[in-house]
Amino acid sequence: MKYKKYFRKTSLKQKGDGDFFLNEVRIKKPKCFLEVGVFHGVTARNVCELLYKIHGGEFRYIGLDIFEKNDENKSEIIPNTNFSNPFKKIYFEYIKKQDPYSIEAVRDLLKKFNKNVDLITGNSNKILKKINMSKIDYVFLDGGHDYDTVKNDLNNCIEVVNKSGTILCDDYNLSYAPGVKKAIDEFVKNNNFKCEILHNSRFAKIEKY
Ligand SMILES: C[S@@+](CC[C@H](N)C(=O)[O-])C[C@H]1O[C@@H](n2cnc3c(N)ncnc32)[C@H](O)[C@@H]1O
Repeated sequence: MKYKKYFRKTSLKQKGDGDFFLNEVRIKKPKCFLEVGVFHGVTARNVCELLYKIHGGEFRYIGLDIFEKNDENKSEIIPNTNFSNPFKKIYFEYIKKQDPYSIEAVRDLLKKFNKNVDLITGNSNKILKKINMSKIDYVFLDGGHDYDTVKNDLNNCIEVVNKSGTILCDDYNLSYAPGVKKAIDEFVKNNNFKCEILHNSRFAKIEKY
């Protein structure tokens, strides 16, 4: 399956990134997928399309994001939500009348799968510890890029790896967010997990040996 952009922004924007990512998910065929950092919902929609192809209606997608910019969130790296393409700006402002970085817009993008989708608004540092991880078998970690946030997110998802699931982390080797790599390397070492660095060091795939 080819990764589509749905006229929105995504972090998997470079040619080949999305297809590589989808192939990783396809190999594992998860039944219950958690994405930390949904943004415009492009990856969410691609994952739902893929899991629907594999499992029919028998899958769950859980997406978590702050979905707003405020003072409390300013230390987190939230991608620029403005479009440089004027057609996209017009489409969202005057046709859809939506902010694509809002839970309503993401819900709309995923409406085909509304029975399979749970979207949660909040900060992963507070929310993840309340999520029941027992059924989740795949995590795409692409939320806050601060060292402490990535460390907390990984520790809150540890059960997934311990139960033979996968955590795929984005932006492993991002020069302007070195805390991502530091937190991942420490987490892998402290827990003696397997870690594969993939796709030009973009992704870190964490699993049990
Ligand atoms: C790089 S974007 C995610 C891109 C998306 N996964 C994709 O593939 O298009 C990062 C997202 O994480 C969210 N975020 C940042 N810090 C967060 C936190 N502590 N908790 C939840 N979401 C967070 C931001 O609001 C932003 O939408």
